[in-house]
Amino acid sequence: MNLILLGPPGAGKGTQAKMLMDRYGIPQISTGDILRAAVKDGTPMGLKAKSYMDAGALVPDEVVVGIVRERLQQDDCKDGFILDGFPRTVPQADALAEALSSLGRLLDAVVSLAVDVEVLVERLTGRRTCRDCGRGYHVKFAPPKVSGVCDACGGELLQRDDDREETIRRRLNVYDEQTSPLIAYYRQAGLLTEVDGMLSMDAVQEAILAHLGKEQARR
Ligand code: AP5
Ligand code: MG
Repeated sequence: MNLILLGPPGAGKGTQAKMLMDRYGIPQISTGDILRAAVKDGTPMGLKAKSYMDAGALVPDEVVVGIVRERLQQDDCKDGFILDGFPRTVPQADALAEALSSLGRLLDAVVSLAVDVEVLVERLTGRRTCRDCGRGYHVKFAPPKVSGVCDACGGELLQRDDDREETIRRRLNVYDEQTSPLIAYYRQAGLLTEVDGMLSMDAVQEAILAHLGKEQARR
């Protein structure tokens, strides 16, 4: 299963990707997670990416395209992958098509998650992530048993630097301007399915699985 999850910040791409990863045993490729790890490790790529990320802007295409091209060639992607947060511009989508074609691979589906703006802001301001194991929470919609502490590993729960309201609004504008054209791009390619991302996490997952099941049956 070669899949793209498309949607604005806070739509639930990461949440759904993790559920699909458990279900299909294929990796989640989140360019945001890869870039945040590079920032944390202070690598040259991380140093370059940090100022863009803090400003809520996109990191230059050549940086993220390089990351994904390399990642797709790794062994764990041979049975499929879930791209989360990539592509985010038309040039990135074109570069992905080229990379997949050179690997002799095809995309199976592009799932676009739609969520109202004020709900996105509420989701992002309430999001918390475990510093140690990366598990995601929400103070209201998916709270940990003990406030500020990860249920799975006891690690401290942190808020992302770019989840302050002002930066969230900028990220949402960037999505509208630079990423939303990909909805038409993939619709034209006959790959797009739109899922109501306003539903509960489990209901969204069910809707995605129902679509992917139909796609598999069709092939
Ligand atoms: P990235 O990390 O990709 O962030 P994003 O796209 O802004 O998306 P988020 O991770 O904020 O949201 P999500 O859709 O994953 O939602 P989640 O599942 O966590 O990118 C960060 C930055 O990196 C970018 O701004 C850019 O600078 C750079 N970057 C990354 N990729 C790039 C690229 N390709 N090109 C250029 N630059 C790039 O859910 C959010 C919250 O809501 C959670 O708390 C969750 O628990 C909760 N939630 C989820 N689903 C539901 C639900 N159904 N009901 C209730 N609550 C829910
Ligand atoms: Mg995410």
